[in-house]
Amino acid sequence: EDYNLEEIKQDLTVIAKRAGDMMIQARSTKPAPGTLAKKNIVDLVTETDRAIEVMVSNALRQKYPTFSFLGEETYTPGTPLTTAPTFICDPIDGTTNFVHNYPNFCISLGLSINRKSVVGVIYHPSRHDLYSAIVGKGASVTHLSTNQVTQLPLQPPLPLVNLQSCLLAVEWGAERSGPNWLTKINTFNHLAASVEDGGKMVHSMRSIGSAALNFVAVARGDVDAYWEGGPWPWDVAAGWIIVEEAGGLVLDGNPPKEGDEGLAQLDSRNFLVVRGAPSGQKEVAKEFWESM
Ligand code: IPD
Repeated sequence: EDYNLEEIKQDLTVIAKRAGDMMIQARSTKPAPGTLAKKNIVDLVTETDRAIEVMVSNALRQKYPTFSFLGEETYTPGTPLTTAPTFICDPIDGTTNFVHNYPNFCISLGLSINRKSVVGVIYHPSRHDLYSAIVGKGASVTHLSTNQVTQLPLQPPLPLVNLQSCLLAVEWGAERSGPNWLTKINTFNHLAASVEDGGKMVHSMRSIGSAALNFVAVARGDVDAYWEGGPWPWDVAAGWIIVEEAGGLVLDGNPPKEGDEGLAQLDSRNFLVVRGAPSGQKEVAKEFWESM
C-alpha cells in the first residue's frame, strides 16, 4: 500500500509544535524533581509527558485509525514492534532535563513501516528547531522563529579517520544496574583510559541527556558518533531516519557477528550512530566494537 508520507510528516509537524508549546507552558510550573520516581529513582515521568502522549495518540488515532501506536507512557512491556504502520512517540525525550530546566528536551515522533523508520519529526522547543525527514527525501531543520529551512548535515562532513579523533556522544541513561549498565561503565572507562593503559582516548565525550537530540547532533555534524546501550524504539525512531537521510549510519552497538553487516533494528536497544563520512564510517565502527 502507498501512504502519503509528505502529508504524514505535515501532520506530525503540527502535533510536534503543539507538544512543544505544552512543554514550554508546563515548565513555568516546574514539578518537584524529588516527587517523580517512575521505574526507578532516575527514570522520571511528569504529568506533561502523559498529557502530551494523550494529545498525540488522540490526534493520530483520529486521522489514522488503522495505524498502530507505540508510546513511551502507554507501552506494555513485551509488546513487539510489528511490520504494521506504527506511529512511535516519545512525548518528552530528555524528561530529566525537562524536570531540571536544562533546555535539551524534545518530542520525538516517528512512523515505521515494516519495522523501518520512514518519517521522523523532532521538535526542540527551547531552540525553536524542528527536524524532519522522509525516507528518500533528505533531512532538514526548520528554525521556527525565522522559518529558515536548512538541509542536513549543516556542512559536508569530513571523512572519519579513527575513533581517537572523534567527539563521541554517550549517555548515562535511566538503567543503573544490569548488564547494559556494566557494559556502559566498562566502555566509558575504556574510552577514557590513557593510551598506556590500553584506552582508546576519543577526543572527548558529551552527554546532552536526550537520545533523540543525540541523533540530531550526529545528523547536524555536531558530533562524530553517538553510542548508547538502553534506548527504546521511541527514543530512536524519528532520529534514525533523520540521521540516515543526512548520510549517516545506525549500527548495532554490539560487535557484529560473523557475516553480519552490523546494522541495528529499531528495537536493538544498543546503538552506534555514525555521521556521514562514508570513507570512514565502518572503520570507526569496527574500532569502536574492538574497544568494547
Ligand atoms: C531517555 C533519554 C536519555 C537516554 C535514555 C532515554 P526519556 O529518554 O533520551 O538521554 O540516555 O536512554 O531513555 O526517558 O527522557 O524519554
